[in-house]
Amino acid sequence: MGHSEPGLERIVRVDPPKHHFTLLRNPDGDYLGTEDGERLQLFDHVDDKAIWKQLESDTFGHPASGIELHSDPHRDGHLLSHADIKVGADANPSEEAASYMAHHGPALMPSDYLATFQENGWVCLASILSPDIVDELERVSCCGRWSDRAYDRETPVLNQTAAFAQAAVEPVSLWLIRQYLSTEEIRLAHSPGLAVLTPDDGERDVQGWHSDFPYLWGITRNRDNDQRIPVGMSGELSMGVQRNICVSEFTRENGATCFKLGTHVLNSGPPEEWGTGSIYAQRGHRAAHGLPYDGPEADIIEAPAGSIILYDARTWHRAGVNRTDQRRAAILQAMTPSFLMPFGDTSMPYKQFMKGPIIDQLLKRDQTAFAELMVHKVIGPGGMGAITVDKELTGLFQA
Ligand SMILES: [Fe+2]
Repeated sequence: MGHSEPGLERIVRVDPPKHHFTLLRNPDGDYLGTEDGERLQLFDHVDDKAIWKQLESDTFGHPASGIELHSDPHRDGHLLSHADIKVGADANPSEEAASYMAHHGPALMPSDYLATFQENGWVCLASILSPDIVDELERVSCCGRWSDRAYDRETPVLNQTAAFAQAAVEPVSLWLIRQYLSTEEIRLAHSPGLAVLTPDDGERDVQGWHSDFPYLWGITRNRDNDQRIPVGMSGELSMGVQRNICVSEFTRENGATCFKLGTHVLNSGPPEEWGTGSIYAQRGHRAAHGLPYDGPEADIIEAPAGSIILYDARTWHRAGVNRTDQRRAAILQAMTPSFLMPFGDTSMPYKQFMKGPIIDQLLKRDQTAFAELMVHKVIGPGGMGAITVDKELTGLFQA
């Protein structure tokens, strides 16, 4: 196999964390936490209020307030008590303790990630997905220990494993995106799909430099040569966060995404001389002209499997080149405020998901969270309507 020479990009390495915090979830999947360090509450989201740390096998501490819960193991869960008072399923004091599940949480406090994200325009949540979710995602993408498995092209990927929707509703990254975009109402701009990068052959077409949806600077221009979001008109308000889930470990060798970090503040797309997406979309361009810019001004984020990389969609970047002999998988998700038109139709994949067997495997909270992300709505004088693509009308306007 004719691998090309590795580039000279600067490596930003995110190491595997030595510890993870814990999320405590009731049987519906709501998150246990406290705002004031006195009264326990349930939350539908995870910020510092809902972060716990296992201190001993029978004790969970709450770093934000300092309180501690006592735990009695119970089947797969924990019966909790606070100051010798049992905790019910609604987080209130109860005669009978409810069983809470301890879920894999982030390595850092959500507020620490937010400070980094707001300062730099990107942040990596190292190994935030649990090992069993990562293994399931590797199974459906036929990577890692599942590389001999045959890829299922018949079943929609959302219907192949609950891990896909579970990864999509990972709560710390969702909270960070809501804070960064300054709105509670965020959506998936397209149905999440697997991005499997197969070994490079030294000449195949590759992706050029671009900004992501909704900007798409460097990629698409309409017939008037305008940008989708006008360059130079994008100010403080970001209109998109890209969420890349590293199913496999991301390394320079296996094609980790290549960035020019910090470019979200420039209000413009990548320079043509770096080789933009439009240029590299021309068939055979790579074989004739070589790879897009891969010099020392670019950055590669190396991260362990199960990490989520969030970046402002304006950040210049391009897909990496896989110089190993192994497939490398990721899930790429464009996240936007609900006031933007989506990039693709999420209604059909969601309806298939609703009718399929997987939805019942999700906790109630995760079902709700996934529906919120996938269903785009119009809300106006006539009430609320869920948006879908009308095939008949589409046909009338197709050339
Ligand atoms: Fe992209």
